[in-house]
Amino acid sequence: MAEYDVVVIGGGPGGYVCAIRCGQLGLKVACVEGRGALGGTCLNVGCIPSKALLHASELVHEAETNFEKMGIAAKGLSVDIPKMLAYKDGVIKANTQGIEFLFKKNKVDYVKGWGEIVSASEVKVGDQSLKTKNIVIATGSEPASLPGVEVDEERVVTSTGALELTSVPKKLVVIGAGVIGLELGSVWSRLGSEVSVIEFLDEITPGQDGEVQKNFQRILKKQGMSFVLGAAVQKVEKLKTKLKLTFKKRKDDSEHTVEADVVLVATGRRPYTQGLALEAAGIETEKGMVKTDAHWRTNVSGIWAIGDVIAGPMLAHKAEDEGMAVAEEIAGKHGHVSYGVIPGVIYTAPEVASVGQTEEQLKEAGRKYKVGKFPFMANGRAKANFASEGFVKLLADAETDRILGCHVIGPAAGDLIHEVCVAMEFGASAQDLALTCHAHPTFSEAMREAALACGDGAIHA
Ligand code: NAI
Repeated sequence: MAEYDVVVIGGGPGGYVCAIRCGQLGLKVACVEGRGALGGTCLNVGCIPSKALLHASELVHEAETNFEKMGIAAKGLSVDIPKMLAYKDGVIKANTQGIEFLFKKNKVDYVKGWGEIVSASEVKVGDQSLKTKNIVIATGSEPASLPGVEVDEERVVTSTGALELTSVPKKLVVIGAGVIGLELGSVWSRLGSEVSVIEFLDEITPGQDGEVQKNFQRILKKQGMSFVLGAAVQKVEKLKTKLKLTFKKRKDDSEHTVEADVVLVATGRRPYTQGLALEAAGIETEKGMVKTDAHWRTNVSGIWAIGDVIAGPMLAHKAEDEGMAVAEEIAGKHGHVSYGVIPGVIYTAPEVASVGQTEEQLKEAGRKYKVGKFPFMANGRAKANFASEGFVKLLADAETDRILGCHVIGPAAGDLIHEVCVAMEFGASAQDLALTCHAHPTFSEAMREAALACGDGAIHA
């Protein structure tokens, strides 16, 4: 019987990062994963494959809309979907194999199979029994189901099936205007689908800054997506060739139907704990999530939990941070996650990125704040790249000037946001950003200009 300091259950961004850090800290560690590849949802059926298709479809869009303006003739442009999917699969393989290499490098034992918790000191994987001092539950999440909607991953798909469509659906209806719906909706829209999004709430991307929500919706509409807001989907019926979707408008309860070739269900995800035998092990859960204290301890001593399976945003990088932190805790050090400075990115084109508080949250908290805004329309690099839609919005404390949040819609927003993350970690003021020299011509100048706008004013707007 093998004996470990730590057995991590789940090889996604939370679990594999935790296992690697445990190895680096000199702990004897195993990572149990049953899907046949490391990397979890993120690398296999989530972040990475969707980014590959976003990249490819953005290039198609760029060729169709901007090449001619730059004097580039790309006659006879065509898209080979099976080949595009093969490229995406290649990207997945390269990434998942990279983790196997990192496991070897850091002396992490990769145990293939599904783990079941027998007790705080034993994990069963098939016929194998792993003896251990600590267990880290990092089993992630799965798409939430929707009553009246039966997913077959061919015509009625979740994000998993939406990454495998072998041809471009003529009409794609997306249920849910969250991150998945809009990212994958825009992939297929750019490849030629007519995309309609049906959303329960009265705005898209719940939780985002209101100004970003409105502008983002306007931009997506201009790109060809249509939206039905304030509508709850009741059922999806499978007709011979089409799908019939029924939804109710919340304001007057009126019932409507719409036809589709493919329906993407993107109404959120739920923690995945199947087969872990949590109850038998006496591990407390709450609303399906594993309950932990502020240091990722469950109620059972020696059993920890991180990532999508616990409370908080379901983001790969939040799970990674928790993975590192819990490894430090187990090694007797001090693990820390800065929950107030976790960026969120929507990888559409333009990208949407945010960190810290929204204007709505500041208003609700009664905090006095100032807003520094700068449009990409006034950024030289963005204009040259046909990427001048969107803006940077920086929120700072009215008295101290300390940065409280930042919301960006525009080119490379997902990369730009990190200078604000670093600034916030250092407790910086908007003036600190404004006084930092930013190279010209870069998109990042828009960040500095927004910071200047919190003070005496932006230069270029
Ligand atoms: P989400 O929670 O972002 O959005 C789901 C949307 O569906 C909500 O706007 C909700 O109001 C709506 N909805 C729920 N029931 C409905 C109904 N019956 N009819 C119409 N609309 C309905 O969830 P999503 O997009 O599925 O993503 C799941 C998780 O994965 C999220 O936590 C997300 O943050 C994460 N994720 C993050 C990505 C990123 O960081 N770029 C990419 C993909 C996923």
